[in-house]
Amino acid sequence: MKAIDIRNKYLKFFEKHGHTIIPSAPVIPENDPSVLFTTAGMHPLVPYLLGEKHPAGNRLTDYQKCIRTVDIDEVGDNRHLTYFEMLGNWSLGDYFKEESIAMSYEFLTKELQIPAEKLSVTCFAGDDDAPRDTISYECWKKAGIPDERIYFFGKDDNWWIAGEEGPCGPDTEMFYDTGKPACSENCNPSCGCGKYVEIWNNVFMEYFKSKDGKYTKLAQKNVDTGLGLERMTMLLQGKQTPFEIELFAPVMEKLAELQNQDFIQSRRIVAEHLRSSMMIINDGGRPSNVERGYILRRLLRRMTRHLNKLQINLEKLPELIDVSIEALQEMYPELLKNQQNIKNVMIEEKDKFMKTLAKGEKEFEKIVTKLKAEGKHKLDTQTVFNLYETYGFPPEMTLELAEENEMQVEMTDFDKLFQEHQAKSRMGSEAKFKGGLASNGEEETKYHTATHLLNAALKVVLGQHVHQKGSNITAERMRFDFSHPAKMTPEEKQQVEDLVNNWIAEELEVTAEEMPKEEALQSGAECMFIEKYPDRVTVYSIGEISKELCGGPHVKNTKELGHFKIQKEEASSSGVRRIKAILE
Ligand code: SER
Repeated sequence: MKAIDIRNKYLKFFEKHGHTIIPSAPVIPENDPSVLFTTAGMHPLVPYLLGEKHPAGNRLTDYQKCIRTVDIDEVGDNRHLTYFEMLGNWSLGDYFKEESIAMSYEFLTKELQIPAEKLSVTCFAGDDDAPRDTISYECWKKAGIPDERIYFFGKDDNWWIAGEEGPCGPDTEMFYDTGKPACSENCNPSCGCGKYVEIWNNVFMEYFKSKDGKYTKLAQKNVDTGLGLERMTMLLQGKQTPFEIELFAPVMEKLAELQNQDFIQSRRIVAEHLRSSMMIINDGGRPSNVERGYILRRLLRRMTRHLNKLQINLEKLPELIDVSIEALQEMYPELLKNQQNIKNVMIEEKDKFMKTLAKGEKEFEKIVTKLKAEGKHKLDTQTVFNLYETYGFPPEMTLELAEENEMQVEMTDFDKLFQEHQAKSRMGSEAKFKGGLASNGEEETKYHTATHLLNAALKVVLGQHVHQKGSNITAERMRFDFSHPAKMTPEEKQQVEDLVNNWIAEELEVTAEEMPKEEALQSGAECMFIEKYPDRVTVYSIGEISKELCGGPHVKNTKELGHFKIQKEEASSSGVRRIKAILE
């Protein structure tokens, strides 16, 4: 079975069980600067898990495009991926453990035809915060899993939360027995030896953990499940690694055809980073030196480095992109539409990186000349490391160049320095991931409403061609990207600012209304990416001046916003301008 068939089976199965299929959110969360990327299917649904009414109902299912880069340096082994697709189903205060487990069991054994004896499950053992999950245990027994394949573990294994704060709860996890021999007498699904592979996680979200570590009961009992598509595909196809399934195999083959070296790890890294970078770029990400942009840059540079290692001419990059998109287009037709754009971004970054490397080489020469003048013939570890850290100059390249220059290299502590560096950057990115989900505090909410006012004002002042292209909100400021071909004049900026402030002064009411998507569009409501919205949508109106499809949240009245001020107007990309503004 191909990945797309598993995805379709999944969505159909849950649709048959009363779930509405909702579209995947982008990998770059909208209006949520608190996390770098969408890391799980539940992420865009947090407001609804906390009790807000979802326009598509209380049984939902989707596939979600996810990026998790905490283990970026592990990619190249036989299992780690930075991009993956998560299939999920949700009950928002509707069904709970019994129905959830019965459906999962039915899907695995009937739809995917996994032999029941290959399944093991784990349940939450209980602690001071929450009781032992005997209900899940009973449900599994009833479904047909015998006692000896049901395990109980504590919070480390059987509790799920995104970050430090948020909706959470005990989970029950399903494992596939690969048939490998047990690693010891105590071999079990949590031992990590590879005999058992986790395939699905059903979280019973009935708690909220606050920053101070306290657990309280949520207003509703939710179910949040996640099934990793690539892993499931690999298992069902009897493959040993995800790189052998149809989403990667053509790229792996192309690389084998182009390469002069047999570095399987490098081929995997190239194939994997190529795909995840494309997915990030496709959803609007661009390389830079901070946060999301930096992760994308790291992915692209690592990919380029490994292409070099494979001695593949970098001019082949567009060809590789074509092969990868060809393999992915059935699942992500949007890649095809964006093909040229993806190529442009990747090629530009590759060229930049090659320049960086050239600079590194110059720096290397300087260092060597100086050392030789001093009668020294050895590069110390710190120098090798500095070249790596400052110039992105790979140590293996330093070694090669040193050899050509008849220099020795001291590498004894390199791993230590490297690990320290990694630990630091990992801490950085984990801290970001763990930073919790969109806080949507009072300030963010105000800015959210301000973006609607700004959008409306720009249309009045500049024309109806203005459409929102993106936004980013923190508690301190807002950023708003919109289509417009020219720099705004000072008068235009002033007019927009005045208009927004007039609307604030008019104390306009903000109202929300649910309706079918078609109706919303016919009513002329603004919408950024129509395909991203489910069939039933929420339309937010501000007085008579603005109407937009939106997930909220918003203030009740524009008078809450204070004074609006544009700080900057600048180019964002071709045909797109960016405004930075504050409320004061
Ligand atoms: N949120 C859970 C996970 O990511 C289940 O979807 O595993």
